[in-house]
Amino acid sequence: ATHHHIALIPGDGIGREVTPAACAVLDAVGARHGIRFSYDEFDWSCARYRELGAMMPADGLDRLRHHDAIFLGAVGDPGVPDHISLWGLLIPIRRGFRQYVNLRPIKVFEGVPSPVRGAEPGVVDFVVVRENVEGEYSEIGGRLNRGFPEEMAVQEAVFTRAGVTRVLEYAFTLAGSRRGRVTSATKSNGIVHTLPFWDELVAETAVGHPAVGWEQEHIDALCAKIVLEPARFDVIVGSNLFGDILSDLAAAVAGGIGLAPAANLNPEREFPSMFEPVHGSAPDIAGRGIANPLGAIWTAALMLEHLGHVEAASTVEGALVEVLAGTGIRTPDLGGTASTEEFTKALLEFVR
Ligand code: NAD
Ligand code: IPM
Ligand code: MN
Repeated sequence: ATHHHIALIPGDGIGREVTPAACAVLDAVGARHGIRFSYDEFDWSCARYRELGAMMPADGLDRLRHHDAIFLGAVGDPGVPDHISLWGLLIPIRRGFRQYVNLRPIKVFEGVPSPVRGAEPGVVDFVVVRENVEGEYSEIGGRLNRGFPEEMAVQEAVFTRAGVTRVLEYAFTLAGSRRGRVTSATKSNGIVHTLPFWDELVAETAVGHPAVGWEQEHIDALCAKIVLEPARFDVIVGSNLFGDILSDLAAAVAGGIGLAPAANLNPEREFPSMFEPVHGSAPDIAGRGIANPLGAIWTAALMLEHLGHVEAASTVEGALVEVLAGTGIRTPDLGGTASTEEFTKALLEFVR
């Protein structure tokens, strides 16, 4: 049997609740398809920060480097500033391992009503491709004149030709294997240096993909269109911040952010890729055993696909479709009463 070594970082809050659910599903689907997983669990988290003063050890990336993939639950705790927790763990992994594509698929499932009129299963099926290592997420900038009337904050956004082009190439190639349509999120009417550059690179990239149709939409109008006509999208590509915002919006169109998966990909496979649901640590519901594990489980399916197990991935996706369409079992965020464990148990029946 194929044997995969997975680095597991449950993290904080509901990350610790949805990660075991994903592992249970991986083990069950592995038993069915002849794949073995061993997990190296890392306790890197806000709890670790409180105890030892760092989210992860100084050689953290080296400890992850030789795994086939990284699975992460979520990071963040109300007691620790987000710039410490996220920039001490999640962001360094994305950047250090050149995971420049953040792939975030969205589907409306039968049995999970969308809050959006006309958003039916089979009709809404698109992918957000988010630039994941540069753009608006930069450490360049600073605060000046603290406490004075002249107080100010400045933050630079960084868009490089190489960094933008590689994620656009990924998006156009992906669209070529899907319905052949790219929508680029822009705001070149308001942000007059970086986003006109982004638009130029989109047009240049499109030349190399003559079979793929493309359009660009200003991010504000695009948000409205995703709500009003979600069925028209195939691949939406956006900068780091635009892609972040679009992915929670898209998840809401599908019924909630608890069901959205994400893959932080290093397409060249120089380094391990990282798989984590779109949602965060949800401190408001953490510790109650009611988090929706669907996003984490779908994320596990993306990891299977990345590891080359396309059939096993579709077993998991099929089980998700069946448990939602065929049983009334839902976590509270989707209007049900099931716990994380009950939902996972019901799903496992369809995986086996
Ligand atoms: P969040 O995604 O944690 O929560 C937003 C809302 O969605 C909350 O009401 C929460 O209860 C609900 N929700 C999220 N996931 C759910 C699930 N699986 N099942 C049921 N309900 C769910 O976003 P936030 O409140 O902005 O952030 C909380 C913390 O998580 C912050 O520290 C933030 O920085 C961090 N965060 C981390 C990641 C990550 O590690 N990848 C992603 C996003 C946010
Ligand atoms: C996400 C999260 C992170 C991001 C935060 C927690 C830094 O919102 O993965 O979508 O913005 O990338
Ligand atoms: Mn986000």
